[in-house]
Amino acid sequence: MSGARHIVIGGGTGFIGTQLCNILRHKGYGITVLSRMPGPQRMSWNDLHIKGLPKDTVAVVNLAGQNVMDFKRRWTPGFKQNVYNSRINTTSSLAKMINEAQNKPSVFVSMSGVGAYKPDKEQSYTEESKCEEFDFFSKLCKNWEKAATLNPESKERCRVVTIRSGVVLGKEGGMIKQLYLPFYLGLGGPVGNGSQYMPWIHIDDLTNLIVFSIENANVEGILNGVAPTPCTNKEFSKAFGKALRRPAFFPLPSSILNILLGKERAVMITDGQKVLPKRTKSVGFTYKYPDIESACKAIVTST
Ligand SMILES: NC(=O)c1ccc[n+]([C@@H]2O[C@H](COP(=O)([O-])OP(=O)(O)OC[C@H]3O[C@@H](n4cnc5c(N)ncnc54)[C@H](OP(=O)(O)O)[C@@H]3O)[C@@H](O)[C@H]2O)c1
Repeated sequence: MSGARHIVIGGGTGFIGTQLCNILRHKGYGITVLSRMPGPQRMSWNDLHIKGLPKDTVAVVNLAGQNVMDFKRRWTPGFKQNVYNSRINTTSSLAKMINEAQNKPSVFVSMSGVGAYKPDKEQSYTEESKCEEFDFFSKLCKNWEKAATLNPESKERCRVVTIRSGVVLGKEGGMIKQLYLPFYLGLGGPVGNGSQYMPWIHIDDLTNLIVFSIENANVEGILNGVAPTPCTNKEFSKAFGKALRRPAFFPLPSSILNILLGKERAVMITDGQKVLPKRTKSVGFTYKYPDIESACKAIVTST
């Protein structure tokens, strides 16, 4: 990408956003983070509505979203609305601002999740698989992806890349942050019988995939943000326990998670989909951590 290099990142203060900002700054891009909290090189969502995108914005990324797996928050209608609005409203605000920009950025990278695919023990899903609304998360993903659609009649084109991400594995946040202590104490183990698939990706690969999407003009459309080697929940537990040199035998009954998280939310852990990154590989993306053993080892040894 040549000329001015400024990137706007919604939710750039989070687990994925912090690492992405570091990589992009290192590569010489200027960054503006859209955040609810003021700070240096930040802009509020309200300012975005008033002022529009900063001049010379070459790419826009949206990573904003209320943390679904915040176990301290009960799965109430109000919280669900927050989960929904924080993704759909921020994404549609950014799409609107791109549509209205005098000089359009060349790419809009938006997130979605593997919750778009119906949990199934037999079926494999690729980006070409049909997605239907069957629960809260599939509806969320569908509307999230729809919110990222840009005006097709605009003269200047902006590519839209939507990443359907699996569970992002990294030491600083997400699922690993919640599991680290129990596994470290040797109290970890699979959820239920552990045979459900757990679509996953190492945080380095996800952030590299976002950068790859920004920098490669041939990349557009849906990409599954998952590692090429699918694993089950049991295989993940075994690999993480082994990396920590701890036993990981203690199963967590699905019924307990249903009570703690609410059944509708617990499906993200108790059920799973076998998701393959067919398009992600065919556009030329290569993985640093293609298998769960190397990913867990890297997480445990990272400082
Ligand atoms: N981590 C995963 O395993 C995973 C898997 C699949 C998809 N994703 C998606 O990827 C995106 C980034 O994930 P992450 O793990 O980096 O999330 P995160 O650490 O929870 O950060 C998300 C950011 O969104 C902003 N945010 C939170 N609640 C908000 C609200 N109610 N309204 C507007 N903004 C809000 C926050 O920024 P401010 O406080 O600065 O406003 C926060 O830093 C999310 O959309 C998530 O759904 C993540």
